[in-house]
Amino acid sequence: MKDNKPNNEKLNQLEAHMTSNENEKLTTNQGLKINNNQDSLKAGDRGPTLLEDFILREKITHFDHERIPERVVHARGSGAHGVFKLTKSLAEFTRANFLSEVGKETPVFVRFSTVAGSRGSTDLARDVRGFAVKFYTDEGNYDLVANNMPVFFIQDAIKFPDLVHAVKPEPHNEIPQAQSAHDTFWDFISLMPESMHMIMWLMSDRAIPRSFSRMEGFGVHTFKLINDEGKAHFVKFHFKPKLGVHSVAWDEAQRISGVDPDFHKRDLWESIENGMFPEWDFGVQLIPEEDEFKYDFDLLDPTKIVPEEEVPVQLIGTLTLNKNPENFFAETEQIAFHPGHVVPGIDFTNDPLLQGRLFSYTDTQLIRLGGPNFHEIPINRSVNVVHNNQRDGYMRQQIPKGKVSYEPNSIGGGCPFQAMMKEGGFVSQEARVSGAKVRERSKSFVDHYSQAKLFYNSQSMPEKMHLQNALIFELSKVTIPEIRERMVSQLAFVDKDLASKVAAKVGVEVKELNFPNQSIPADADPSTLQSEEREP
Ligand code: HEM
Repeated sequence: MKDNKPNNEKLNQLEAHMTSNENEKLTTNQGLKINNNQDSLKAGDRGPTLLEDFILREKITHFDHERIPERVVHARGSGAHGVFKLTKSLAEFTRANFLSEVGKETPVFVRFSTVAGSRGSTDLARDVRGFAVKFYTDEGNYDLVANNMPVFFIQDAIKFPDLVHAVKPEPHNEIPQAQSAHDTFWDFISLMPESMHMIMWLMSDRAIPRSFSRMEGFGVHTFKLINDEGKAHFVKFHFKPKLGVHSVAWDEAQRISGVDPDFHKRDLWESIENGMFPEWDFGVQLIPEEDEFKYDFDLLDPTKIVPEEEVPVQLIGTLTLNKNPENFFAETEQIAFHPGHVVPGIDFTNDPLLQGRLFSYTDTQLIRLGGPNFHEIPINRSVNVVHNNQRDGYMRQQIPKGKVSYEPNSIGGGCPFQAMMKEGGFVSQEARVSGAKVRERSKSFVDHYSQAKLFYNSQSMPEKMHLQNALIFELSKVTIPEIRERMVSQLAFVDKDLASKVAAKVGVEVKELNFPNQSIPADADPSTLQSEEREP
């Protein structure tokens, strides 16, 4: 495929930053040619090394600083360049250029990931997969930071650190929860009924995909599309793999993990190198703003899907991955996605999980990528040139000319101006906001089981068996019987038969819980979390 090299605006931009060492002489970082890369400078043949040896010092110092922190979640990833081609215009619904002109091609970079494992963990873990897409549009970067499951564990961002602390290796021994005790994850989940729909997905075959190219992608949250007149539609985003959705069985996953923990990474790399480019249809579910309250769930609740039978997915474009990165660190590792990177015509909803995400990503990248100028790293640059009055900071690359870096000013001299809407300026949707300031969950978020049941019942018999076996395997690793019991009692609200079969295998009984349809009150005494009050 090297002969048939894809070419687009973003790849050309990156090309300018690339270097080749072929047939070149070794140099220091200052460009000085190095005459001996085998020996340090010493006082005599057998004498001590001299502090003067700037070549040794530079080499070792740079090596000492090679590592950066891994992502706090989604640490293990694989990425590729590609292109998004629009096949159906959404101009009626959105001002976004890249969704308006049929045939338009937009360069993309996609990073797939697991969530819980560290950078060196296996590709085949039972886990959610990240499916993050950066569209380098001519109106700026648009990031669709998606997952391969359409719902999430929690409804409010304030629970995210708890979720991640529960799923990551336990703090006292840092042993990953794959084969050892699963106490903390299932403890948390058993106390969080809102996670039950996601748990059905996580225990299903969806959590052990055959390859990245055989996974779906979902934006999870409901977003908004805004058209030229300011009219809004709610939107759910979908990627559907052209190869279909395929998984491996759990025992296959276990074996592959042992033999080739880089199985998905290798598959992606090799299929692109061999010209078998992974492809997805890109689709949208559109709901007029006036239909917001038409459903028996809340569109703002990220633990709910919009059933495709009720709102069909319209396919509007194709995503193709056609080029491997030149350098894993420079591209896949340094890329910085953010659900808040939007373009005119795409806007947020009040989903309380999304709202928290809007804060989290830049915040974490400020430390992961070492300061406020990480947007200047080549892979993160937009294809249109950035113009603003931001100044300085660690690792500044751009050299803005002129003496003025504030606005308004009467001097002129290099200061950019704000853009009107018709010039492509981003305008937030004018949405009415009112209400008392409250710290509580909306009553419309309370049904935690209907869609969990919907998903479980949509599974074929073999898929149901896999799901049941996954729960048995997972809960058999929980060392605390009360957690196993609370968990199977939760399952009874999804399917009584499933709950009793799992219970029998993990040595506990299904009990009746007193928090069937709500989150645990913050002041609940754990010893009161079980009672005889309610029929599941
Ligand atoms: C990565 C936070 C929910 C998808 C991350 C990172 C953080 C984070 C801090 C690491 C980013 C980096 O170092 O560059 C959160 C918070 C959430 C949340 C606070 C909820 C409140 C979600 C949801 C999805 C998602 C619902 C899917 C729709 C991803 C993906 C990545 C990621 C795909 C990896 C991006 C990459 O490949 O670099 N998240 N996340 N997250 N998150 Fe979330």
